[in-house]
Amino acid sequence: MQFHIREKKYNMQKKGFIFDLDGVIVDTAKYHYLAWKNLATELGFNFTEEQNEQLKGVSRIKSLEKILEIGNISLSDDEFTKQMAKKNIEYLNYIETMNEDEILPDVPKILNYLIGKQQPISLGSASKNARTILEKVNLLNKFDAIVDGNDVTKGKPNPEVFLKASKLLKVKPENCIVFEDAVAGVQAANAANMISIGIGEQDVLHEADYVFNDFTEISVEFMEELMSRK
Ligand code: BG6
Ligand code: MG
Repeated sequence: MQFHIREKKYNMQKKGFIFDLDGVIVDTAKYHYLAWKNLATELGFNFTEEQNEQLKGVSRIKSLEKILEIGNISLSDDEFTKQMAKKNIEYLNYIETMNEDEILPDVPKILNYLIGKQQPISLGSASKNARTILEKVNLLNKFDAIVDGNDVTKGKPNPEVFLKASKLLKVKPENCIVFEDAVAGVQAANAANMISIGIGEQDVLHEADYVFNDFTEISVEFMEELMSRK
């Protein structure tokens, strides 16, 4: 993204910018995968990266349900809770050493750009570890609102997380723009009547209004165009 001073072509408005966390701001998807893979191995089956794609954006409980379905295994409620806690302890170990180096390319640039334009920014994540991670990578203070896995009762693709963010930002859903790397997240943004921007592969995220491989591909012109929409 370039930041040269340019003629003001657009009449900018206040929009709500909502960012998913895992896979959009930081590459924690790899840590979730490692922890789930180890759990599957211990339970006696293989869990592939391709299968992991289905878990992106999905809550911890739903993730374990899906994994057990893949392994064709059923657990007692007690064992289920234990396995979920064990996975989270391993995941927390991975994120313990995280720092600013793990922020994905151009994320700080885009956040600072939006802050400079006085655009409201919220997190919209399924993770209950979201605040811990944002603190680790020193980005917590960039957000006007945080909505995470502790604040919702229905996970993505349900739009609850994004609708809550829109409320906190005091921006109508149709004026909100969501950045998401997960199919379930794109579907949640669409269901919330927001503009969905997929970060990742076009083939996977084809339901999104726009798809970019990462933030380095997003231009100032594109951002200005979004902000000037009626
Ligand atoms: C999402 C991830 O952001 O958070 C999922 O994409 C994860 O893979 C979900 O399962 C819940 O995360 P946590 O940190 O609460 O286990
Ligand atoms: Mg994600």
